[in-house]
Amino acid sequence: MNVHNPNSLDAIDKATLLHPYTDLDAHAEKGPHIIERAEGIRLYDADGRSFIDGVAGLWCTGLGFGEDRLVKVATEAMKTLSFSHVFSHRSHPTAIELAETLTRLAPDSITRAFFVNSGSEAIEAAIQIVWNYNNALGRPEKKKFIGRDRGYHGTTIAAGSLTALPYKQNDFDLPVNDRFLRVTCPHHYRYAEAGESETEFGARLAQEVENLIVAEGADTIAAFIGEPVMAAGGIIPPPENYWPAVAEICRKHDVLLICDEVVNGFCRTGNFWGSETVGVQPDMMTCAKQLSSAYLPIGATLMSEAIYQVIAAHSPKNGVFGVGMTYGGHPVCTAVALETLRIYEERDMLGHVRAVEPHFAKRLAALGEHPMVGQARGVGLIGAIELVADKETREPFPPAAKAAPTLYTHVAEQGVMCRALPGDALGICPPMIVTEDEIDEIFDAIERGLDSAHAALTA
Ligand SMILES: Cc1ncc(COP(=O)(O)O)c(C=O)c1O
Repeated sequence: MNVHNPNSLDAIDKATLLHPYTDLDAHAEKGPHIIERAEGIRLYDADGRSFIDGVAGLWCTGLGFGEDRLVKVATEAMKTLSFSHVFSHRSHPTAIELAETLTRLAPDSITRAFFVNSGSEAIEAAIQIVWNYNNALGRPEKKKFIGRDRGYHGTTIAAGSLTALPYKQNDFDLPVNDRFLRVTCPHHYRYAEAGESETEFGARLAQEVENLIVAEGADTIAAFIGEPVMAAGGIIPPPENYWPAVAEICRKHDVLLICDEVVNGFCRTGNFWGSETVGVQPDMMTCAKQLSSAYLPIGATLMSEAIYQVIAAHSPKNGVFGVGMTYGGHPVCTAVALETLRIYEERDMLGHVRAVEPHFAKRLAALGEHPMVGQARGVGLIGAIELVADKETREPFPPAAKAAPTLYTHVAEQGVMCRALPGDALGICPPMIVTEDEIDEIFDAIERGLDSAHAALTA
């Protein structure tokens, strides 16, 4: 039986997953890069330089910077109700309207929303809801989560236990216990066997999920969780058959399917939700980031009616549903999130993403021709290039070369800030308001940066 060993990250991963984001040595000398202000899709630093924000802050500033409508709504909301909580049968108008709007926009399987302050908290709440749900159903053993290598779900203790990247878990004593399992990352370019097609790879990885469920016992597995399109682990669109096959296996074994939409949600992948892009109807979803276009911190854990009814009926046993934070559903944040969703709908953000997506895809694919680029991949307005020392053998650069952080620096020198990612990838994810001309500016800068970084790395 092929059950994946969580410690079997191969040599490529061991080398490049540990130095993902930045050249720490260079920063130790220079100090942090201070960004002072921003407008539209442009950032301005303390030295007077300007950059296009090539990664939408941290995949979150969908509407770009300086959106007056959000500033006005936040100001009004502060005047009207600067605080009210949503614990124990208290609520307020914008929390209610936001919950109604989000569940209307969500897949049919989702009917309820629970508000938090961040993506990590949305994951924490999802984990607690699932554990509470299975206790309520009298299934105290059904508590384990299956995540994926290179999955990113935040940095708090339980969310960090699902974030299967070495820099999050090494020396942080994570995963915190044996309830957090993982399976292979659906990255065909790196993890397929010789001659294996995308479809064969997708089917094999889905089978690995089933093998793990059977090996552990379905009565111990509570949920499968994943980003529909992996983001911080390297921007990895999965094989087309992967998610539907995993969803079927989950249904068969009574395992909940959770889509982490913290990056994918709100049009980023060319559909309103990433789960639509990969063709599944989840039992739960988590979202944050573009929910408010990052104007204020807010996240949400969304769930099916079946889950909600079980935990609602069970809550009186303990007097209250014991998950929540003082600022979860903060009235200023819910007002801003609601206005963000109105703007997405009124300005047809989905239509815009779909209109510029082919140009983004064309320019991204062209980067794949560069001698240092092993693979160019993406969907919607999110993409990555993976750097290799040898295009034929796919051999990565040695870790000491810091290939991705080096490219990041060279591209920034050309006026665009992207993001160096685990696996020697450069992530590209501009604010969704980006125009075709701005897409050209971004990719022209990346092309120039690639040439100069290539010269530096091969000198
Ligand atoms: C998919 C995903 N889930 C969860 C998180 C955690 O969100 P936050 O940083 O808001 O806690 C992130 C953050 O990047 C993410 O990418």
